[in-house]
Amino acid sequence: MGVASSSMCRSCWRCKRRHQQLSKYLSPRQVQLIQCTWSLLKADLSTLGLTVFLHFFDKEPELKMLFPKMIRMNESNQLEWEVDKDMLQKHALTVMEGLGAAVETLQDSQLLNAVLIALGQTHDKRNIKPWMLTRMWPSLSVGLEAVLADHYTREVSEAWKKLYSYICLQMRTGMQNPDLCVDIDDGMSS
Ligand code: HEM
Repeated sequence: MGVASSSMCRSCWRCKRRHQQLSKYLSPRQVQLIQCTWSLLKADLSTLGLTVFLHFFDKEPELKMLFPKMIRMNESNQLEWEVDKDMLQKHALTVMEGLGAAVETLQDSQLLNAVLIALGQTHDKRNIKPWMLTRMWPSLSVGLEAVLADHYTREVSEAWKKLYSYICLQMRTGMQNPDLCVDIDDGMSS
C-alpha cells in the first residue's frame, strides 16, 4: 500500500498523526527543559545507554531474545540469555543517538515525525510491538536520573515522559503502516 491520497490528508487518523505537531503536545517550557537537560546528557551517552539497557533487560528479561546480536546462550542453561557487554554498549549508544536525533529536531515536527515513523517501520521489521516501546520508559527514567542527578526534577521527568510518549506514538504509526512512504530528506511525502 502506498501513500494516502491527498484528499484523505488531515482527516484520516493516519494523516493526522503524520501532521501532528510536537509544539502542540509539549509546552514551550517542556521543550526548553528537554533541550537543557539533553545538553548535559549528550556528554555521556554511553553511560546513559548502558544504564537504560541493563535496567531494561533486568526488568524485561523475556524481551532480550529480540536482540540476537547482543545476547548469547548460556552453555549450562539454554533458556538463560547472557548479554554481550561490548555489543550492548554499541547498540545502547546507537539508540541514545536516535533519541538525540529526536531531541535535536524538536522544532521541526515534519522531519521529526518522518524520522520516527521510519524508525517504527524498521522496528516493525524486527518484530518489535508498540507495547514493548512503552515498557522502556521506566528504564529510560532510571537512566536519566542516574546521569542528571539533582537536575532530574519532577518537572524534567514529566517533560521527558511526554516526549517519550510522543516518540512511541509516532513510531507506532510506522509500525502499523509498514508501507507508508516517508521521505526523511524533505519531511514527508503526502
Ligand atoms: C523509543 C525508543 C527507541 C528508540 C529511539 C530506538 C532506536 C533504535 C535505533 C536508532 C536503532 C538502530 C537503527 C535501526 O536499526 O533502526 C535501533 C535498533 C534496534 N532496536 Fe530500538 N529503539 C527504541 C526502542 C526499542 C525497544 C523498546 C526495543 C525492543 C523491545 C528495540 C529493539 C531494537 C532492536 C532489536 C534493534 C536492532 C539491534 C541490532 O542491530 O541488533 N528498540 N533502535
